[in-house]
Amino acid sequence: MVYTVTFNPALDYVVHLEEPIVNGQMNRSTREEFYYGGKGINVSTVLTNLGADTVAMGFVAGFTGAAIVHGLTHKGIRTDFIILRQGISRVNVKIRNGVETDINAAGPRLSNDDVKAFMKKLDDLTEGDYLVLSGSIPPNMHDVIYERICRRVADKNVQVVVDADGDLLMNTLQMHPFLIKPNKAELGSLFKAKIKNDKDIEKYARKLQEMGARNVHISMLGEGSMFIPEGDGKVIRMGVPEGKVINTVGAGDSMVAGFLAGYMKNGDFQKAMNLATAAGSATAFSEGLGEKSTIMMQLEKINNNLWAK
Ligand SMILES: Nc1ncnc2c1ncn2[C@@H]1O[C@H](COP(=O)(O)OP(=O)(O)OP(=O)(O)O)[C@@H](O)[C@H]1O
Ligand SMILES: [Mg+2]
Repeated sequence: MVYTVTFNPALDYVVHLEEPIVNGQMNRSTREEFYYGGKGINVSTVLTNLGADTVAMGFVAGFTGAAIVHGLTHKGIRTDFIILRQGISRVNVKIRNGVETDINAAGPRLSNDDVKAFMKKLDDLTEGDYLVLSGSIPPNMHDVIYERICRRVADKNVQVVVDADGDLLMNTLQMHPFLIKPNKAELGSLFKAKIKNDKDIEKYARKLQEMGARNVHISMLGEGSMFIPEGDGKVIRMGVPEGKVINTVGAGDSMVAGFLAGYMKNGDFQKAMNLATAAGSATAFSEGLGEKSTIMMQLEKINNNLWAK
């Protein structure tokens, strides 16, 4: 079972406009969509699309929180959220009119008791489960929280995946997470370094491994990704299949889902990387997150060596 954690889920309200936004005036949208947002939720969604067992965990509040749980359940995604007694889960507004303008809300505050209740739920995890810690945390939380979660499951042989930035990620390395997946920009900012080429990526990725991460996967948008496994440490460098890019939001989350689905099925890093790449690109080539048919189409291209130039 893959448990994902989203601390601050959202309803993403996407509004399409034909004109530029004019400040101080009424602007009308021509089309609207809702998505259930949050990085862990994205991972659970793509895992479900791929037929893998997953439970989305985290914190929701109010009528928007209820809508998130309802919407995910309707899509066949299992959830086990802590329901906060105060506040409402956020609605993030995504304005699309040729350019992308986002207004992301802060979301409800979590109390110590809420976090305690969540930690208690983690005691249900058992050997062989995966736990995916994705994205940022609410403003009032300390960036040792992911490390504390790793500690809570440390004696159970649960494989932890961390897809986070800055100290939130760095603090977990001493707990030897199974997998981390920073993107190229995040890798650069972790080391305050300018990353120019594959040699730099490998150098800093290996540093993260020396600091405790077991497997390190660095994604780099249309340039593909680099994977450095534990053990022989032999680099797997993936490109991206050819296709037309529509939206890259959630491509990294899809990649994590594809990796886990592939790895759980085959226990093989190369096969996991193929499915990771297929899932990441399928999302890049879709309006929302990649569906199974689109992911399988990309996998077919990868197997037939049809790479983007
Ligand atoms: N423009 C693109 N064309 C093809 N594939 C892409 C493109 N952008 C992303 N991908 C695929 O998705 C993977 C992950 O993308 P990216 O590096 O953008 O992750 P990310 O920044 O963590 O994304 P997010 O955090 O929004 O989910 C890439 O390694 C690649 O396989
Ligand atoms: Mg990411």
